[in-house]
Amino acid sequence: MISPELYLEGISYAEQNFLDDEANHLRVDKDLLREMFNLDGKKILDFGCGMGGMSLWYASQWNCTVHGFDIDRHHIHIAKDLQKKHKVDNVKFEVRNILTDPVEDKYDFIVLNDVAEHIQYPILEEIFCSLRNVLAEGGRIFISYPPWQSPYASHVTHILGLPWCQFLPQGLLLKWIERNNRTIVGEEESDLVQAYNGLNRLTHKRLMQTIRKSGLVPVFRKSHSFLNNFKPLEKVNLRFFPFSYLITKEFLVLKAPENAGR
Ligand SMILES: C[S@@+](CC[C@H](N)C(=O)[O-])C[C@H]1O[C@@H](n2cnc3c(N)ncnc32)[C@H](O)[C@@H]1O
Repeated sequence: MISPELYLEGISYAEQNFLDDEANHLRVDKDLLREMFNLDGKKILDFGCGMGGMSLWYASQWNCTVHGFDIDRHHIHIAKDLQKKHKVDNVKFEVRNILTDPVEDKYDFIVLNDVAEHIQYPILEEIFCSLRNVLAEGGRIFISYPPWQSPYASHVTHILGLPWCQFLPQGLLLKWIERNNRTIVGEEESDLVQAYNGLNRLTHKRLMQTIRKSGLVPVFRKSHSFLNNFKPLEKVNLRFFPFSYLITKEFLVLKAPENAGR
C-alpha cells in the first residue's frame, strides 16, 4: 500500500516529468530525443518506466505507441492513474520482469531513462541480451544515466546538499543518509538508504563492458557537462579528467549487430 502522502508526491513528480520540459533532470534528455529522432509511427518500449512521466511524454510528442514496463507495482500504480487523469490512450503500462516473463513484441525504439544505474551487473547484462532480442530491425536503444563521477550520482545530493558525496568514506556517508532517511515511492526501494545501496556505480567503461556480451553496438555518445551550459561550449564533450567530474549525464544510442536476424 502506498500512503496518501507518497501517492500524491509520486503523481506530482511524474506529472512534472510528463508536462514540464524544463524539469531539471530530464531537460537534456528531452532536447536530445527531439533533436535526434522522429518517433512517429514507432513502437516504443520504456524499460523501467517508473511512474510513467516519460512514457506519457513520448506518447504525447509523437504519433507512436508506448509500452511502459517496470518491476515496481507502486510505480506502475501511479503511472496508470496518471495516464487515466490525462486520458492518454497510446500507452500501456505493465508490471513486468522481462527476464522471467519475456515479451513477444518487437520494438523500434527502447529507452532506459535513468534506469541502468539502478540494476546490479549480472542482471543488467541479461537485460541487454533480452532487449536485443526484442529490438526490431533498424531499431535503436537509447540510454541515459548519471555516471558515477557525476555530482548527482549518489541520488541523495538534493537531501544532503553535497554534490559528489558518493566519494565520502562509505561508513560516514551511510550514517549521514540514515540520519536524513525518508520513505520514497517504491515497493522495491522504499527509502533513501535502499535507493543508495541499490546503485551499481555505473561508468561509461563499466556500461560498455556490460553491453558487450549482448552484441549491441554503440552508434552515438553524448556526455552532457555543466560546461555545455556556456554557449561556445554547448556542443563539446569534455570527458577527460578533471572535466569528467562535471558530466551530469551520459547518453548512449545502441543498434543491433549487423548480422542480427540473418
Ligand atoms: C530512477 S527510476 C527511473 C524511472 C523512469 N524511467 C523515469 O525516467 O522517470 C528507475 C526505475 O527502474 C526500475 N527497474 C529497476 N530494475 C528493473 C528491472 N529489472 N526491470 C524493470 N524495471 C526495473 C525501477 O523499479 C524504477 O522504477
